[in-house]
Amino acid sequence: MRLDKYLGQSGVATRSEATKFIRARRVCVDGAVVRDPAVHIDPDTASVTLDGQVVVWREFTYVMLNKPTGYVSSTEDRGPTVMELLPPQFVRMGLFPCGRLDIDTVGFLLVTNDGVLGHELLSPKHHVDKTYRFRCDPPIGEEQRRQLCAGVDIGDIVTAPAEVVLYGDLPACEGEITIREGKFHQIKRMFHAVGSEITYLERIRFGGLSLDTSLECGEWRYLTPEEEAVLRRSAGRNA
Ligand code: URA
Repeated sequence: MRLDKYLGQSGVATRSEATKFIRARRVCVDGAVVRDPAVHIDPDTASVTLDGQVVVWREFTYVMLNKPTGYVSSTEDRGPTVMELLPPQFVRMGLFPCGRLDIDTVGFLLVTNDGVLGHELLSPKHHVDKTYRFRCDPPIGEEQRRQLCAGVDIGDIVTAPAEVVLYGDLPACEGEITIREGKFHQIKRMFHAVGSEITYLERIRFGGLSLDTSLECGEWRYLTPEEEAVLRRSAGRNA
């Protein structure tokens, strides 16, 4: 792979910035300054530095974002999008939110440029679990919990079985719900169908991964290689 492409794909520079950095002798490969942006390197074995800092090679980038309220889960919109919470080069690198959380839903949003894995994780074929912490009003009791678990008619579909755990005494206004589908406003419509309304929704698990509780709202971090493997397994791959 060309050195300028390597730098671009790793997210540290655009291709044209990479050319400038290389010509300015700021880039080393295996300890030696390289001045030709077209030089070919093996991304799996080369050690590349920019201004002495190791440039980590990533074929794809996977990011866990703790989405705050007020941001749209898309790459473009009239209002603020989740991409504004991430470094600007992520848009150039083709990252996009994997699935949608409503503008007022907070929590775990995967952002990646791995279109194939993103598609697999969202495909109904793989039944990837998504767990949300909720608050609802009015509170719900055991009968409504059972209805939510069995599946409810939300207009266009009857939802697939879900898991619902209620916190504290019944009727309860807080709990956790795990669904495997991802229909538009699904959880809000499920609660509406049993006579309650969602007042707070936070995704705390997705594809076998839990939201990192050290991330404040609006903060993000790269997934670890182990976490990437968990996602691949959730999507039905061997990792
Ligand atoms: N269900 C909803 O109603 N909203 C979300 O953002 C996610 C699931």
